[in-house]
Amino acid sequence: MNTAIKEHALEQRYLSKRESPLVKLENLQVTFHTFAGPVPAVRGVSLVVQPGEVVGLVGESGCGKSVTLQSLMGLLPADRATVSVDSLTVAGENCTKYKESQWRVLRGTTVAMVFQDPMTALNPILSIGRQLKEAIRLGAKRHNTVVANEDAVALELLQKVGIADAARRLTQYPHELSGGMRQRVVIAMALAGRPTLLLADEPTTALDVTTEAQILLLLQDLVKTEHMGLLIISHNLRVIAQLCDRMAVMYAGQVVETGTVADLLGNPKHPYLQGLLRSLPTKETTTLQAIGGQPPDMFSLPTGCAFHPRCNQAMRICAREIPSLTDGVRCWLQAEKKAVNV
Ligand SMILES: Nc1ncnc2c1ncn2[C@@H]1O[C@H](COP(=O)(O)OP(=O)(O)OP(=O)(O)O)[C@@H](O)[C@H]1O
Ligand code: SF4
Ligand SMILES: [Mg+2]
Repeated sequence: MNTAIKEHALEQRYLSKRESPLVKLENLQVTFHTFAGPVPAVRGVSLVVQPGEVVGLVGESGCGKSVTLQSLMGLLPADRATVSVDSLTVAGENCTKYKESQWRVLRGTTVAMVFQDPMTALNPILSIGRQLKEAIRLGAKRHNTVVANEDAVALELLQKVGIADAARRLTQYPHELSGGMRQRVVIAMALAGRPTLLLADEPTTALDVTTEAQILLLLQDLVKTEHMGLLIISHNLRVIAQLCDRMAVMYAGQVVETGTVADLLGNPKHPYLQGLLRSLPTKETTTLQAIGGQPPDMFSLPTGCAFHPRCNQAMRICAREIPSLTDGVRCWLQAEKKAVNV
């Protein structure tokens, strides 16, 4: 079995149990070409999202989370990056060889994205109602349908995302709304295209804790009622714990541990994830233990396991060879354990 096939064996095993995934990404590699040199932002990432499932992507700044998500929307700059993927299914469509015109049809209809800052998705000079109606019209056009009463649908969408006094809100402008309410509007606009897949990049980072909890509950509820899939990026492991069924932990452009949230948070195996969990405040701990060392320099990655300069369990092989995923864990300790038990 070649390495690429081995790397995907776990996701494949998961896939074989269920049918028609919304996302099936296999062996994504993205290298940006910058004046300072090549940046290997994503190095062989594979992911699966099923209908009705919430999958979380975590990892420290610069590890490749957003780039991975952007690849699922065809949003990577083709002139500045080399992108390769063995296969890519998004919203049930095989997009491996999609051209920009095909991505445009997919974006905003069957796939929608929610970003950290709602103002990036909203036009400050147009009323909420006008923007929502435009999204409804666009969605209808792409689904080859006509919406008879756009005002009624816009109102219904705002109510669906929990906005009180929706009729008045339709006449207001983005700056008249709170951050949490703006994010609800963005989610309503995403729903206007009747998506089967929602991609969210740090959707609650800019919000206070109470509003964050409300938006997370809303997303959770929508996934259930609309039977969508949700792939969400978050720095915050508590967000992932609250919302997700499965998660993938990224480090230096690779998935280093993947599995159910219960397994990973209850029994983390990769030293990086163990470190992340130790750095979280708990009721018992008064001092936090940050992971030592510096995040990797993406222009000059360490040889072997990219985490080895910071790993307190590193062995000699770790600096020499990149471990592959063994039972969902990219670590030589896991490979050794498996070899001993075989
Ligand atoms: N358009 C681009 N051109 C050049 N390099 C890029 C570009 N976009 C991302 N990168 C680089 O690719 C790497 C991964 O970036 P990415 O935005 O995916 O990180 P991230 O995990 O989302 O981080 P954060 O948590 O800070 O959002 C980083 O080193 C980043 O500098
Ligand atoms: S492969 Fe080695 S250096 Fe990397 S996380 Fe595992 S033990 Fe640590
Ligand atoms: Mg990001």
